[in-house]
Amino acid sequence: MSEKVCVVRTNLWIDPVFDQLMTAHDNVELKIIDVQAPPSEWHRTLSQAHYYHVSAAKDELPKGLFVTEALLEQCPKLQAVSSSGAGYDTIDVSACKARNITVVNQAGGNANSVAEMALGLVLAVSRRIVESDRVLVAQQASSREALMGHEVAGKTLGLVGIGHIGTRFAHIAAALGMKVLAYDPYLTDQDILLRQAKPVSLAVLLAECDIISLHCPLNQDTRELFNADAFGAMKNGAIFVSTARGGIHNEDDLYASLQSGHLAGAGLDVWTQEPPGPDNRLLGHPNVVSTFHTAGVSHEGRHNVAKMAAQQILLMVDGKPPLHVVQS
Ligand code: NAI
Repeated sequence: MSEKVCVVRTNLWIDPVFDQLMTAHDNVELKIIDVQAPPSEWHRTLSQAHYYHVSAAKDELPKGLFVTEALLEQCPKLQAVSSSGAGYDTIDVSACKARNITVVNQAGGNANSVAEMALGLVLAVSRRIVESDRVLVAQQASSREALMGHEVAGKTLGLVGIGHIGTRFAHIAAALGMKVLAYDPYLTDQDILLRQAKPVSLAVLLAECDIISLHCPLNQDTRELFNADAFGAMKNGAIFVSTARGGIHNEDDLYASLQSGHLAGAGLDVWTQEPPGPDNRLLGHPNVVSTFHTAGVSHEGRHNVAKMAAQQILLMVDGKPPLHVVQS
């Protein structure tokens, strides 16, 4: 009998549908790495792996399980690496390409969840919902007018990146009566118009939007794209939201912009360090609403990405092309 195809994942939480689909395939053997086990055990298992399904969350996964050149050295049979989400910060895509190892992600699987969280952050900041809660709990409420916020209808939303999540958010925002602008250097103006947004340059987006929401990957072009200059170029009283990745915005520069009163508020799901430490001055700032990289972590989002990942690996096992290949 020929060798079964070995699929490896870690024991970090994954929706049960992943294992159900894997174990239902006659030709697949699923192996699970205990992230608490010694690295020698990880490597023993990975040396058998044809497919490695790896967490996309950089602060959840031990560094030794990141897909680096050193890890690939230990995986002579590896054919593909599958990221558990849309991001792939834990995978050295170039190192995989150099070894002819395919990298796939689950882009789109949690687009609804993330777009809904981005909307939630926009509304929470704009209508001062969390601030009101804190004031009431602290028995410090004076007048309702002291907590007056802004409607989002009629405001201009700027999206940085209009892929799966940006597109979903554009549709939701348009339904709420917002004007939607988008900056995405990898799409044509026609593509952006079809996604229900007006294509603009980054400079125009910064200058014209009441609310800016990030939906691009973290890479060498986007790291610190939102720094003191970018925040300074935003409209006075604007709101900044990111459900994309920590590192795209500079946290100290954002704090300075909020402290000076130039920006009215921020909604942050992603952080340079996750969870952010007690010394992070953005945490607890009255105009900041914070979440713990949970934009994609809904029951539906987690189920969708796990199912999508399993189906995509099984496509490759069956000799068919995967649907979401990551380009380096
Ligand atoms: P996607 O790949 O469908 O869309 C990303 C878009 O960003 C593409 O249209 C691309 O052309 C654009 N882009 C690339 N470089 C850019 C740049 N320099 N400036 C502006 N746009 C640029 O990905 P999807 O599914 O929409 O996810 C977007 C990001 O959201 C992911 O890269 C990930 O980092 C983040 N994410 C966060 C989650 C969370 O739980 N907070 C969950 C899922 C994704």
